Amino acid sequence: MSIWATKSIEQLKAEAAETGEHSLKRVLGPVNLITLGIGAIIGTGIFVLTGQAAAQYAGPAIVLSMILAGFASGLAGLCYSEFASTVPIAGSAYTYGYATLGEFMAWIIGWDLILEYALGAATVAVGWSGHLTAFLHDFVGIDFPASLAAAPCTLIPAAGCSPEAVINLPAVLITLAVTALIIIGVRESANVNTVIVIIKVAVVLIVILGGAAYINSANWQPFIPPNTGTFGDYGWSGVLRGAGVIFFAYIGFDAVSVAAQEAKNPQRDMPIGILGSLVICTILYVLVSGVTVGLVPYRDMLGSAAPLVVAVRAAEAASGGSGLLHAMVMLVELGAIAGLSSVMVVMMMAQPRIFYAMAKDGLLPPFAKKIHPRFRTPHITSMITGLIVALAAGFTPIGALGELVSIGTLMAFVIVSLGVMFLRYQRPDLERPFRTPWVPFVPILSALVSFGLMAGLPFDTWARLVIWMAIGIVFYFMYGHKHSEVRKRDEVLAAAGGTRRR
Ligand code: ALA
Repeated sequence: MSIWATKSIEQLKAEAAETGEHSLKRVLGPVNLITLGIGAIIGTGIFVLTGQAAAQYAGPAIVLSMILAGFASGLAGLCYSEFASTVPIAGSAYTYGYATLGEFMAWIIGWDLILEYALGAATVAVGWSGHLTAFLHDFVGIDFPASLAAAPCTLIPAAGCSPEAVINLPAVLITLAVTALIIIGVRESANVNTVIVIIKVAVVLIVILGGAAYINSANWQPFIPPNTGTFGDYGWSGVLRGAGVIFFAYIGFDAVSVAAQEAKNPQRDMPIGILGSLVICTILYVLVSGVTVGLVPYRDMLGSAAPLVVAVRAAEAASGGSGLLHAMVMLVELGAIAGLSSVMVVMMMAQPRIFYAMAKDGLLPPFAKKIHPRFRTPHITSMITGLIVALAAGFTPIGALGELVSIGTLMAFVIVSLGVMFLRYQRPDLERPFRTPWVPFVPILSALVSFGLMAGLPFDTWARLVIWMAIGIVFYFMYGHKHSEVRKRDEVLAAAGGTRRR
């Protein structure tokens, strides 16, 4: 029995058209999808990780890292768009993998996507917590107990494990709140998301326009700080490692594809949602990262839970306490608190839907495909997702989480890019409302660039990825391999063929 069994595109489309107790509502239009994308994209990456990556790896050349990561995402976005318009069904890269590379690779991708969505949401929850505590300190006069706002071992990194740090409580609480929201339903979640996206984009624009006047160009020198002799510590290898880390900032456009089954017109609107949100965010990111490293010497952002706030505060101090900049600090903090929660909504909406798709295929137990009778959302997998995210966010440091999310997502991009190419050769006849340009050049380049960014990430991150994937493979052979619907169908067909022959 083959672990390489594939699902036909026709079968996927028929499943997408199914109605009944297991079906999802089609409510999202093109504007919803672009806002869904931006809602997922702008988040902890730009508010937290960009400053940290500039401080640790790239210096002012974080701007180049941003362009490189945006380029990688754009290439992958072109590949995702072709798939999402050709195979408009929930499940994202997992589903595309099933259609092209076979069941085993589909499982690998699905398992890998847990890193992207569930751990991604956890990373964002930690960033949210950093901004909440900064806001409480700066504007409310409350110092949230540090031991309850950090994962164990993160309070005093230089001193090893801190006995004081217990749990990141704000991160756990926001996770529980978002879990409740996604169970109530996608329409409500998408509307809340739209309002938050408007606030978030406004904040980023204010930092760019307001901060530009206070840039000290000396902070941009040297633009690429010399390498220290260690791979990834500044210099060009630092630019590469920085790109691998801040690649996290671009993750999210692919979450649009997960909503394909809830889109009114997925063939036309999936590429609009994916590429539209990506282009808007790339422009904002390059500008805001340039302004940030112009406001403050990059090393000053090291170890901060809210580096963008540090940058604006530095400008405030340099201006002699400008009221405008003080207001900007508040805006950034509030914008991050609102904006990061919208990222969590999208990621935590995506994860249960991938579990749902995997359960429908028999690779996960049947309870994972239950849809709530009134809310029509996958409530059980939403609760499981909430639990995983809360545990990861409460007890894991943000740096380790973010890098693991980046490497996992880049791996999915490599597989999706290659999948587009395979499908072109396997099924040239399929109707493709959106076609990736210059196949096979673009998919090959996309896979190579994403792999290049993976290669720049630290050894520990690679080790964690390998361990995670090994656990997934064990799970597959213990459960999915035995319960796969596709292989059951193939067996029935093979038996029927055998009977006829006799
Ligand atoms: N791109 C999202 C963020 O930066 C995941 O938070």
